[in-house]
Amino acid sequence: MTPPDYEYLRKLLKDLSGLDLSADKQYLIESRLLPLSRNAGLSGIGELVQKMKGGSGDFTSQVVEAMTTNETFFFRDKIPFDHFRDSIMPEILRARASRRSIRIWCAAGSTGQEPYSLAMCLKEMGAAIAGWRIEIIATDLSQEVLEKSKAGIYSQFEVQRGLPIQMLVKYFKQTGELWQINSDIRAMVQHRQLNLLHGFSPLGVFDVIFCRNVLIYFDQGTKIDIFNRLAKATEPDGVLVLGAAETVVGLTDVFKPYPERRGLYRPTGARAPPIRMPAVGAVAPRVAVAASL
Ligand SMILES: C[S@@+](CC[C@H](N)C(=O)[O-])C[C@H]1O[C@@H](n2cnc3c(N)ncnc32)[C@H](O)[C@@H]1O
Repeated sequence: MTPPDYEYLRKLLKDLSGLDLSADKQYLIESRLLPLSRNAGLSGIGELVQKMKGGSGDFTSQVVEAMTTNETFFFRDKIPFDHFRDSIMPEILRARASRRSIRIWCAAGSTGQEPYSLAMCLKEMGAAIAGWRIEIIATDLSQEVLEKSKAGIYSQFEVQRGLPIQMLVKYFKQTGELWQINSDIRAMVQHRQLNLLHGFSPLGVFDVIFCRNVLIYFDQGTKIDIFNRLAKATEPDGVLVLGAAETVVGLTDVFKPYPERRGLYRPTGARAPPIRMPAVGAVAPRVAVAASL
């Protein structure tokens, strides 16, 4: 790959998905895009870039998909789900007793293990949530992972990662070497394609937002912009849950950490500064090209 091709791809990925690659990540692009270009019958990444420059939206969306990291597993990091069951949900059930409805957003849900882990936690709550209207919305940039999430079908390896055996037996059906999560759990999760770089106000306001292990790929300006918009999408007494390597500290004061509950953040009501950070300024091209994703 030539340095100009690398720069072209780096900028395109930043504009379309937020992925912030440092100057030395050629190997990552090559390992993900060489198979894609070979499968498409192209001579290599150079020809792929030429096709994209020629306006091939199809190749562009395939490149963006190929460069997303979709790593996930059931009950990833365990503690956020313990907090969800033991403190977040009991508090929200108390606070919403009169309206009896709760909205949960899994903002980069990947292949479904995270939203379905939340759905299984809720199912385990049994009578405590009987008669409540509980929405779980799983969104992701990648259509491919959303299709897998909707199907809810996992390999033996995937169900062995993080999922307690009792839950596997209780909530999954085995078909050959694959396991499908039961339809009543699948029905608890709605799926939508959504790029976090774009506006998400049409989704409404949520009591709980899980936005884990996605912001780590973005630069500081993009993170701040997304935190500021997430704060508007969080109920004043709602909760934002981030991944273990992510924090708002030092970036924005629209959320603050919960004392003694690692990974949980509460909106402060502070107003975000009105000016968007320069790093996420290229809104127009992003919207235009992403429409074809
Ligand atoms: C590493 S996975 C994390 C999945 C899950 N949240 C977890 O913690 O296990 C990151 C997910 O973020 C998605 N993603 C990447 N860029 C995105 C963007 N700009 N908007 C929405 N989702 C994005 C990827 O497609 C991928 O499925």
